[in-house]
Amino acid sequence: MQIIPTNSPGKAELPLDLTGPHITAGASSAHRLYQALCEMIVSGLVKSGEPLPPSRRLAKQTGFRRNAVVTAYERLIADGFAQATVGSGTFVAARIPARAVAANKPMVIVEAPRQGALALGCTHIDARAVQRFRAFAGRRMRAFGGEHLHYGDPRGSRELRVAIADHLLSARGLRCDPDQIMLTSGTLHTLRIVLSAILKPGDQVWCEDPGYPIARRTMAQCGYRIVPVPVDVDGLQVARGRAAAPSARAAYVTPSHQFPLGVQMSMPRRVELLDWAKQAGAFVFEDDYDSEFRYDGAPLMSLAGIDQLQRVIYMGTFAKTLFPGLRIGYCALPENLIADVTAARAALDRFPGTLMEGAVADMLNSGAFAANLKRVRKLYREARDVLAQTLEATSDGTLSVPVPSQGLHLVARFDPSVAPAIAAEAKLAAGAEGWLLADTYARARPLPGFVLGFSGHAVPDLVSAAERLAREARAALRSKAKSARRA
Ligand SMILES: Cc1ncc(COP(=O)(O)O)c(C=O)c1O
Repeated sequence: MQIIPTNSPGKAELPLDLTGPHITAGASSAHRLYQALCEMIVSGLVKSGEPLPPSRRLAKQTGFRRNAVVTAYERLIADGFAQATVGSGTFVAARIPARAVAANKPMVIVEAPRQGALALGCTHIDARAVQRFRAFAGRRMRAFGGEHLHYGDPRGSRELRVAIADHLLSARGLRCDPDQIMLTSGTLHTLRIVLSAILKPGDQVWCEDPGYPIARRTMAQCGYRIVPVPVDVDGLQVARGRAAAPSARAAYVTPSHQFPLGVQMSMPRRVELLDWAKQAGAFVFEDDYDSEFRYDGAPLMSLAGIDQLQRVIYMGTFAKTLFPGLRIGYCALPENLIADVTAARAALDRFPGTLMEGAVADMLNSGAFAANLKRVRKLYREARDVLAQTLEATSDGTLSVPVPSQGLHLVARFDPSVAPAIAAEAKLAAGAEGWLLADTYARARPLPGFVLGFSGHAVPDLVSAAERLAREARAALRSKAKSARRA
C-alpha cells in the first residue's frame, strides 16, 4: 500500500492510499483521487467536520494537476462525503452517506472451479481445432454484420441451429427441424428455460439417485420438488418413480451414460419411461452430455429419437465437445412446446449472444468439429485406460474401477461394506480433486468411492494424482481395520 502524506491543515499527515483495491486501475487521476479520499473518509481516517487540504496544496503533494483535485472534491461534495464553505475550504461532511458506512461488510469469497488432475469438467481442444476456431472467429469478427446490431430470435441464429440439426442427425440419428432447436448457455440454462415454460413451482420432477447434483440444485432453486428415483444396472427404476410420484410433471435423466455410475439405460427401461411420460402427460429431459465420446460399440438410440420428440426434450452442450468457456448448449424441443419455450426464453434473457454462433457453425459445417472429436477421443481413451489401470494397480484391490465405454469420467469404488467416510478421508489426505461418489446421492444409501475426471489432464499428472489417491485409499482402510481390531 502506497501512502502519500498530504500535510492537511487538520492533521500533520493524512494517509491517502492511491493504489489499494478500492482504486480502479487505469481510471483518470481525478477519479483515483476521489476513490482514495472516499476510502480515507469511510474508514474513519479523517472525521466528520475535519478540513481537507486546499486543492493547490493537495495537488502539489500528490503530483496531480489542480484541476484533478478540484474535480475530485466536487464529486465528493456531490456524493455527500464533503461540504464546501465559502472562504473556509472543504470539510468532511457532518454525516457520511449510509451506503459508505456499510463498507465494512463481510467479504464474499468465490471459490474458483478446480482444474487439477482428476477434476471433472476439463476438456482438451486440439491445437489444430484451436487454429481453425481462431480463423473462423476472426473472419466472422472482420465481417461484423447487422445480425449483431439488433435483437434476435430467442432460439438463436438459424445458421447454427441448422448445423446442429445436421449434427444430431448424423451423430445421434435424431431427426429434427432447425425450428425445434434452441441455443442456450448450457444444460442448466436449458433446464431453467424449458421447465419454466411447462412447470409451476412446486411441481414434482423425477431425478436419478445417484445423479448430477448440479442439475438437482438448479431445479430445486427454481422451486420444483425433486423426487429422487434409484438407479440400477438398467438405469432409472421407472417402477420406483411411479410408486413415489406417479403424477410428476417431468423426469431428468442421463440415459446414454448415467451420471455418475455410467450405466446405459436399457431399451425396455427407455420404453417404460416413455410409456409413463405419455400416460402422465409428463416430459422427459434427456441430458446427452457426453455421447460424442463413445469408445466401444455403438450407443443406443437417443430417447428423443425413439420418441420422435413428442415427450422428450433433448439437451446437448458444446462444453465438452469444444470447450466450456463458449457457454453454448442447445436443446431439441417437441413441436408443441416451441411457442411456449420461445416465449419463456424471451422473457428470461431475450436471446443468446450472437458473437460466437457463426464461428461454431463454421466448425460444424467445415468438418473441423468432427476432426477435433476424433483426435481428442483417442487422447481421452488413453487417459481413461491409464487412470483405471493406475487406480486398480496402486490400490491393490481396494478400489474397483469399471472402465466406462463412454464419457470423460470414471467411478472408482470401495467394497459396498466400506463406510463412505473412508473415501472422504482418503480424498482429503491425498489432496485429490474430483468428487466423492456419496455427494451425488440424494436419498439412496450412498456407495463409497470417487467420481474422477480424466479428460483435459496430462497423463503424468493423472498417474501421480491417481497413485496418491489409491495409496491413501488403502491407508484409510488399513487404519480403519486397525482401530476396529483394537476396539
Ligand atoms: C451430467 C452433466 N450434464 C451436463 C453437463 C454440461 O453442463 P453445461 O452445458 O451447463 O456446461 C455436465 C458437465 O459436466 C454434466 O456432467
